[in-house]
Amino acid sequence: MKSLIIYSPAKINLDLRVTGKYKNGYHKLLTVFHRISLRDKIKLTKTSAGIALSCDHSKVPCDERNLIVKAYRMLHKRYPNLGGVRVRLTKNIPVQGGLGGGSSNAAFFLLAMKKLYRLKISHKELLSMGRRLGADVPFFLWDVNQGIGTGRGDRICPMIAKDKKWFVLIVFDKGLSTKNVFESLPKTLQPLFLTNIRRIVRIACSLMDQKDLLDARKSFVNDLAKPAFKFFPSIRRVIAKAERAGASFVQMSGSGPTVFAVFNYSKEARVFIRKLKGMRVARHRLILCHSI
Ligand code: C5P
Repeated sequence: MKSLIIYSPAKINLDLRVTGKYKNGYHKLLTVFHRISLRDKIKLTKTSAGIALSCDHSKVPCDERNLIVKAYRMLHKRYPNLGGVRVRLTKNIPVQGGLGGGSSNAAFFLLAMKKLYRLKISHKELLSMGRRLGADVPFFLWDVNQGIGTGRGDRICPMIAKDKKWFVLIVFDKGLSTKNVFESLPKTLQPLFLTNIRRIVRIACSLMDQKDLLDARKSFVNDLAKPAFKFFPSIRRVIAKAERAGASFVQMSGSGPTVFAVFNYSKEARVFIRKLKGMRVARHRLILCHSI
């Protein structure tokens, strides 16, 4: 095999709670990751040595700052005789949108390199590399459509979603820095009891499986929404508009700014898009996608 094409999906966070803070500055989280059909394309071609990355999106750095390049360096350290690779990244996932695009790219690149070079690397070792690359990377290394993330969001407990959902993503033309949003959280956090939250979140996910979006929504929160509103006050307005347009479950994903509305059927999602367009949210890009 000389080359390989893979598709790297986005995620949304159905729920995200900040449960504390580590001494190194990272926050302790409990979050529900849900994989969606919006995806980037990555083409890998074997070369003799090193990595050459190119991307069709002007805002994606193709140098050492890119997680794909960092992932290659990590693999190369582990396998000093590793061959080279040319990577062509075609972006569909909004950059800095709270949809985990960069993390997914790094995770799928690692999986593709394992296949391309037949590397004998265990799931456990890949997870450890993923964790070092970024908090959202491990979720994408699990072959599951949904999971609960604890620790920094990097310890995954799979929790398969049984019902396919439809999502309308409301995409802003500018991104948000995850770091800035986390840094804007209040300095003192209310202590939360992990066992209780875990139970609440599990019940809410099973309500989702039963198509009860209204009740599920009552239990889900995103603690990063308020700090993100400070940077982008329009996120709050967009959420309110989406609710007025008839969506029963609207939330910001991750550290934002992307907002998503959840539906049980594609027809409902399409009606919602028409209504939203009539309400002049047109300057935001709307993307229809579904659970995978
Ligand atoms: O892990 P990742 O590099 O994606 O995180 C980006 C930034 O978000 C970190 O540098 C940190 O400031 C913040 N973060 C955090 N707690 C987490 C995850 C991310 O404070 N659990």
